[in-house]
Amino acid sequence: MRTEANIKSSKPATGKEAIGNKQSSPKNSNSVKHDAIVLLKQDHAEVKKMFKQFDKLAEKQDIEGKTQIANKICAELIAHTIAEEEIFYPATREAIDDDDMLNEAKVEHDSAKELIAQIVSMSPEDPMYDAKVTVLGEYITHHVEEEETEMFPMVRESKKVDLKEMGAMITSRKAEIMEEFCDVEGEIDPQQLQVKIDMSAKH
Ligand SMILES: [Fe+2]
Ligand SMILES: [Fe+2]
Repeated sequence: MRTEANIKSSKPATGKEAIGNKQSSPKNSNSVKHDAIVLLKQDHAEVKKMFKQFDKLAEKQDIEGKTQIANKICAELIAHTIAEEEIFYPATREAIDDDDMLNEAKVEHDSAKELIAQIVSMSPEDPMYDAKVTVLGEYITHHVEEEETEMFPMVRESKKVDLKEMGAMITSRKAEIMEEFCDVEGEIDPQQLQVKIDMSAKH
């Protein structure tokens, strides 16, 4: 089990790690690749794309296609939110001293998880299915905007978190979580996903 002590750097992150933007030289491309904030933003962009794909498939009344993408969205969001709650948020709470912001973010995660639990347990032919996925997309857009415009810049500016080390931890934790609800062929198993959501709701 990882502890906060592992996550927090013993010394402030270097300027290179702290900045970690994509225009930097190839020399520090490794830092960029593993920068926690860069990785979390990539997840956000990926999910946004998937919500758009869902809209198109739902419009075409492609039940199988939209179900597949909705399950992918739910799986990705569960892995992302759990990794944030276990790794990123605790370190952020210490680094930026803004409990209100972190508490609100956690409440937003909980609402999203409730909706995700409903989506994975309902029939895609239910007339409310598309509406639930659309509202989930709206929740996530709002939440992501707050993370990207408020929380992430504050964490980076604080220079109190080793974002490179944390990025590697988030990547491996997310892979571990995904394995719990994917079958041998890599397909998402909605029942296992439901089990994981129930477990995470108890914490
Ligand atoms: Fe996020
Ligand atoms: Fe989040």
